[in-house]
Amino acid sequence: MRILVLGSGAREHAIVNSLLSERAGHEITAAPGNAGIAAVVPVIALDPTRAEVVTEYALDNDIELVVIGPEAPLVAGVADALRQRGIAVFGPGKAAAALEGSKTFAKRIMDAAGVPTGKATRAGTLEEALEALDEYGAPYVVKADGLAAGKGVLVTADRDAAATHARFWLQHGAVLVEEFLAGQEVSLFLVSDGHTVVPLSPAQDYKRVFDGDEGPNTGGMGAYSPLPWLPEGFVDEVVETIAVPTIRQLASERTPFIGLLYCGLIITKRGVRVIEFNARFGDPETQVVLPRLVTPLSGLLFAAATGELASQPKPEFSSEVAVTVVLASEGYPEEPITGRAIFGLDAVRDVSIAHAATAIIDGQYIATGGRVLSVVATGRTFAEARLRVYSALDQIALEGGHYRTDIALQVAE
Ligand code: AMP
Ligand code: GLY
Repeated sequence: MRILVLGSGAREHAIVNSLLSERAGHEITAAPGNAGIAAVVPVIALDPTRAEVVTEYALDNDIELVVIGPEAPLVAGVADALRQRGIAVFGPGKAAAALEGSKTFAKRIMDAAGVPTGKATRAGTLEEALEALDEYGAPYVVKADGLAAGKGVLVTADRDAAATHARFWLQHGAVLVEEFLAGQEVSLFLVSDGHTVVPLSPAQDYKRVFDGDEGPNTGGMGAYSPLPWLPEGFVDEVVETIAVPTIRQLASERTPFIGLLYCGLIITKRGVRVIEFNARFGDPETQVVLPRLVTPLSGLLFAAATGELASQPKPEFSSEVAVTVVLASEGYPEEPITGRAIFGLDAVRDVSIAHAATAIIDGQYIATGGRVLSVVATGRTFAEARLRVYSALDQIALEGGHYRTDIALQVAE
């Protein structure tokens, strides 16, 4: 199959690797990709958020399937433009992508579908936000309504910090003040063709920058899959009570969701609740879910893109576990220092490296952003996979680079 993968992160590198691992002779191109992706497939320097540019490229190159990695092209309507020209695309149109692009929209859909989520109040002014903060009490949860690249959410015991966060994001639109939910978090990916929903294997992401869940939220510093501590029947429950009602609600509003429904969940004492929906594969969770997927990824994505999921066999996963740890630049997430050389990538063994923000200059890998790369390992046990990941990280040098040392520790003992 001729496949175009849009995006330039470690998630897209993992998607490309998974497609290549099928050994099915796919002709894969990534746009714009990064230095790691360019080492395995051709990359093309086009802006993935420009619908007309992407569509023209796909038509000129007889692309049979477009896989949209990040949220920005989805929210920009790239999937709609491709579909209008008859190109199969894995990723929702602009209207359904609002499930991620607007937290207000997501809350409305959840209410209409009867999906369990925390209480939330939309505030358009600081006064409304302050009133809601006092209503819910500490710990305070304040979220930007629109896309914020992982920076829109603040969870804090400090009311002044919550008010400052609200004031800042109110300049860009509304904010949501939410009730605080306590419990283990789960990321569950579901593939949807607009009607049928198929779950993948659950993963857990580590959002805070430092060990022990200290420091600010990030895009994600590491992940592992599966989750051995999940109650029996958990995935089925999420499918029945969350994913299916959400997909049905969107279909009934004539905005079918074709793509990856990412359910960000929290298991509270009173049951499972949705913290957020995303409209695409999660990063870094994809790096631990896809290496365990035995079923060919291309078949699954193509079936979703063409409305044929119901006739597909259920996705199967290997019994091996997977762990990934993100190497970040000094200063991430606030102000990452970029442009520094990365050494030792050729020396690592028993792991795969999913590149996120890398370039090659004069034959040397350079870090070009905050989250630089994900080191991924599988193993029979979490202890084994962790050993592989952290031994590899010992070999990799990036001045000022940092990573968490406690990823999957809770399941490795
Ligand atoms: P989000 O971007 O909405 O996934 O939020 C980022 C992180 O903030 C989540 O992974 C949670 O750890 C935390 N968070 C978000 N909403 C809540 C909430 N209502 N209660 C507790 N923690 C939350
Ligand atoms: N890992 C969180 C996300 O992809 O949004």
